[in-house]
Amino acid sequence: MPVRILLSIGIMFGFCCSAAASGKAILGRGVNLGNALEAPQEGEWGMKVKPAYLALIAEAGFDSIRLPVRWSAHADEDSPYTISPAFFQRVDEAIQQAFEHELTVVLDLHHYDGLMEDPAPHRERFLALWAQVAEHYRASPPSLLFELLNEPNKNLDAETWNDLLMAAIRQIRVTNPERTLVVGPANWNAIKGLDSLTLPEDDRRIIVTFHYYLPFKFTHQGAGWVGPHTKEWVGTQWNGTADERLAIEADFDRAASWARKHRRPLYLGEFGVYEPADMDSRARWTEFVRRAAEERGMAWAYWEFGAGFGIYDRNGESWRTPLLRALLPAGKKDSE
Ligand code: GLC
Repeated sequence: MPVRILLSIGIMFGFCCSAAASGKAILGRGVNLGNALEAPQEGEWGMKVKPAYLALIAEAGFDSIRLPVRWSAHADEDSPYTISPAFFQRVDEAIQQAFEHELTVVLDLHHYDGLMEDPAPHRERFLALWAQVAEHYRASPPSLLFELLNEPNKNLDAETWNDLLMAAIRQIRVTNPERTLVVGPANWNAIKGLDSLTLPEDDRRIIVTFHYYLPFKFTHQGAGWVGPHTKEWVGTQWNGTADERLAIEADFDRAASWARKHRRPLYLGEFGVYEPADMDSRARWTEFVRRAAEERGMAWAYWEFGAGFGIYDRNGESWRTPLLRALLPAGKKDSE
């Protein structure tokens, strides 16, 4: 049976008809085009956004993509912090390619490291980046969503982030009064950060996002960017024991109850397992987490398409079928 879970605020963010059929912004089931436009330069981490990838993603049955972009690496350091026109053009192209396949796009500001380290001197620049991005895309269809900032962390604590996100939303609303925005909590967009998130109460065009990578020793085994100690985690399995399942259910219940209380739709914007883990465990966990989200009416995006967590093997030019099926059990038909 197709999954048809509707969120209380309407059909826009849950699982309903395809975006093509409804003409609306359906997040539904998505995938991150990670490691491409949020690398310091596109291609530096091996991955580029290509028209063929967007065709494959749409053909497989996904509804949306999340597009992480490192705007901060392509803008002047000094006021007015102009974003490079060539980079804008490149992002336009990627978005356009997604639209050609009727994929909804979450445009995510990713890896602004300076802002996390030292928020105060970067505040003005962050707001200037959003002013430019918002102006640039003001005429785009509703199937373009803006995600304010990936995983606020370090010195961008809850208080600082809540204050900054209010200022960013105020600014974006000047040019994009109706645009759907995606905002997640401090503390790396973790579920435990939700309680500290504050949003403008009267702005209901906001989707709240969180990321899920627990148990971390399993999902991030061998993840060099986390630290050398992650080598010792290699071999950790996820067998779907009663305890393992309960831990995930409890986390998702907590997120869902936050959403009910605050009347906000939830988007699981990242979840995935790094490649050193064994494929059976990866597929089991991915399917379980995907279901946990869907059962609670949450849209989701797997992290990620074609790199270390990838559902697609770029060298072999083929899907990693156990992962793809964990996400889309019956392919395209199931999601329509
Ligand atoms: C976050 C990071 C990204 C990393 C992923 C998994 O999105 O920004 O770089 O690959 O989490 O750890």
